[in-house]
Amino acid sequence: MSAAAAAHTSQISLNINGRTHDVGLDNRTTLLDTLREHLDLTGAKKGCDHGQCGACTVLMDGRRVNSCLVLAVTAQGTEITTIEGLEGPDGALHPVQTAFLERDAYQCGYCTPGQICSAVAVLDEAAAGWPSAVSDPDVGTDGGAVELTAAEVRERMAGNLCRCGAYVNIVPAVQDAAAATTVHEHAAPTGSAAVAR
Ligand code: FES
Ligand code: FES
Repeated sequence: MSAAAAAHTSQISLNINGRTHDVGLDNRTTLLDTLREHLDLTGAKKGCDHGQCGACTVLMDGRRVNSCLVLAVTAQGTEITTIEGLEGPDGALHPVQTAFLERDAYQCGYCTPGQICSAVAVLDEAAAGWPSAVSDPDVGTDGGAVELTAAEVRERMAGNLCRCGAYVNIVPAVQDAAAATTVHEHAAPTGSAAVAR
């Protein structure tokens, strides 16, 4: 490696789905490209590569991020969860994954990993009482959970676009998962919106 190239390269360590990955990267490499091109974690999809579609959504410390907008070097020290890391240790699907299957909430499936990662965080955000733009102004002020009405799910999932025809089934799938999931502990909601229209 030339001196010039070395100046743009870092050896970093990433915690992904509970495993440590050591990788040498150009400092300009996004988290999405790191996952897909360097670590063979191809669940997160590249749609727009501009932070507009949500196909690349993963969780950083439980919060949703568009991994196409995150430099991998800035992800050190965080806990990253991708769609590959959502199943339980016994291989059981996450309740959101089960709900998407049972509701047939996808068609081609390209947006689905991002939709599911986003929905997992939505459940935590609502359970923690974080309001959305459509919430009653008083919601969550008592520390209680936010009910995931269809309007709440649409608003919270608005950053995740689906180009196929499964929109109508995504909202009930998220609501099914909310009903099947008990209160989550680690809820530090993301600022990024999410949503399927
Ligand atoms: S690929 Fe990241 S938001 Fe579209
Ligand atoms: S299921 Fe095809 S893009 Fe969403």
